[in-house]
Amino acid sequence: MGAEPLAITAGDMPDTIDASATDDLIAFSQHLDRTATAWLDGLGAGARRDGRRVFYLVVGTEDYALGIAALVRSLRARSTLPILVLAAGGWKPQLREERLAVIHVPEIVKRDLEAWGAPRFRRTLTKLWAFSFVSADRLVFLDGDCLVRQPIDDLLDGDGFAAAPDLLSNQPGPVFNSGVFALSPDVSTRRALFQFLPGARSFDGGDQGILNTFIGAPAHWLPACDNLLRTYEHAMPGAAGTARIVHYTAKKPWHPDTETEGDRALIALDDAWTEHLDRDELMALVGEWRRRTAAAEIATNAALARLEAEIIGQRNQVRRLCRNGLALGGLVALLQLALFGVWLLAA
Ligand code: GLC
Ligand code: MN
Repeated sequence: MGAEPLAITAGDMPDTIDASATDDLIAFSQHLDRTATAWLDGLGAGARRDGRRVFYLVVGTEDYALGIAALVRSLRARSTLPILVLAAGGWKPQLREERLAVIHVPEIVKRDLEAWGAPRFRRTLTKLWAFSFVSADRLVFLDGDCLVRQPIDDLLDGDGFAAAPDLLSNQPGPVFNSGVFALSPDVSTRRALFQFLPGARSFDGGDQGILNTFIGAPAHWLPACDNLLRTYEHAMPGAAGTARIVHYTAKKPWHPDTETEGDRALIALDDAWTEHLDRDELMALVGEWRRRTAAAEIATNAALARLEAEIIGQRNQVRRLCRNGLALGGLVALLQLALFGVWLLAA
């Protein structure tokens, strides 16, 4: 168990900032930069690599809390450098690590993207706060569904935007995956991005579409093993074993349900992620899955009971109809007999 995280809340911060409010975005990003710089400088040499001000950045909401807990632990096992967590949507992280701070941020919302892409991509624009930190020399951004498996501090060296290819993207040209990138933020790029945002289109409805259009080809392509998408495992069995960062795209390891038939082949990777949870997190996960299973079973049983009642009802109706039909048949036969008798007598 590490130290209490430093949690910083901006006074009267809004819950969201609209992507079209360029001035508000820039004003908040300046505040973020000042806050992070004061914290980093307070860490002294612990926040420096070769004299440069560097840090890791993670952005998330409550629904990624377990992912971020596992990520932060896996990262801290490989690096002593500062980790800044931006918490959005009212999330109050319980992370305890040395040189880790939490800053509460508004979510960046762009409503014209909401009819697009997967609904889970709607909240991903908040990661664009990464471009705020112009006083830092370099940062490495990691999605909350990543796991660090080997040292990666060298990603903080050098300059220029660096990211790994998204080998599963169905765009005509090469695309980088925006779940892991290194960045040396600067004032003009920050302004340009926040000015680009209101009119920006996104090919996937999330930040990846926007960033690929805005940045174009990265100055440095990282190898795929620096952001190995979980779903590559089908095409490259075992590749995750040597990856520096595994990125749990599509199904999240903290969700029990499989999304595709192929997910079953990836259970071992989900187990590798689960190893990073502590006892309380495991208990929370097991408890939640138990409740979900019970709720699903209760719903199935209720549906079966309804079906059974319906079948019994239909059977009773058929019986009634048969009985009525027989009675009617008998009546007709009697009538015919009576008519026959009358006819005989009359004959
Ligand atoms: C992909 C990327 C992820 C990004 C999302 C939305 O899933 O892996 O990092 O947030 O697309 O663009
Ligand atoms: Mn991701």
